[in-house]
Amino acid sequence: MQAVLLEVHSIFRWIILILLLLSIKQSFAGWRKNREMRDADARLWLFTMVSAHITLLIGLYLLFFGRFGILSAGLPEGVQLMKDKFYRFFWIEHPVGMVLATSLITIGRGMVKKQIKDPLKYKRAFWLFLLALLVILALIPWPGMDIVGRSL
Ligand code: HEM
Repeated sequence: MQAVLLEVHSIFRWIILILLLLSIKQSFAGWRKNREMRDADARLWLFTMVSAHITLLIGLYLLFFGRFGILSAGLPEGVQLMKDKFYRFFWIEHPVGMVLATSLITIGRGMVKKQIKDPLKYKRAFWLFLLALLVILALIPWPGMDIVGRSL
């Protein structure tokens, strides 16, 4: 069960990255071309948000109940959280950064409902999605990263 969830969590990175890149492309186009809000774009933003939320939920489960979970395994004896690169990354940096990125995506998606002009919705969503993308790219445990790196 845990291994499956970790696998799903890992695969979802690609779904999020693809949807986020498309959202960024579409919001940039909508902003620059002064477009009216299109249903297809609203749907794309919704899917992007939902996939981020699914990843967040699985991430929360892994954080508390996974093989290195706070409640299931705890901090090994002698390890100091902030001085240990592995635990600092998986218990603090990765979760906090990804919650922030998910919030940015959620706020970006929320632009659909804002009482503002459509091109402004696109512009704001563009910057929020772009920021979220940078945070996610920086905090994925990519292969080759010292100690925390994982396979693709
Ligand atoms: C956009 C959101 C996120 C992405 C793209 C993402 C991506 C990843 C990736 C690629 C891994 C490595 C998977 C592997 O070893 O095969 C991972 C591990 C992990 N993630 Fe996330 N993550 C996200 C959000 C979160 C959040 C919000 C949390 C916690 C609140 C979290 C907690 C964890 C934990 C604890 C692990 C290590 C689990 C283990 O090795 O047993 N993640 N994440």
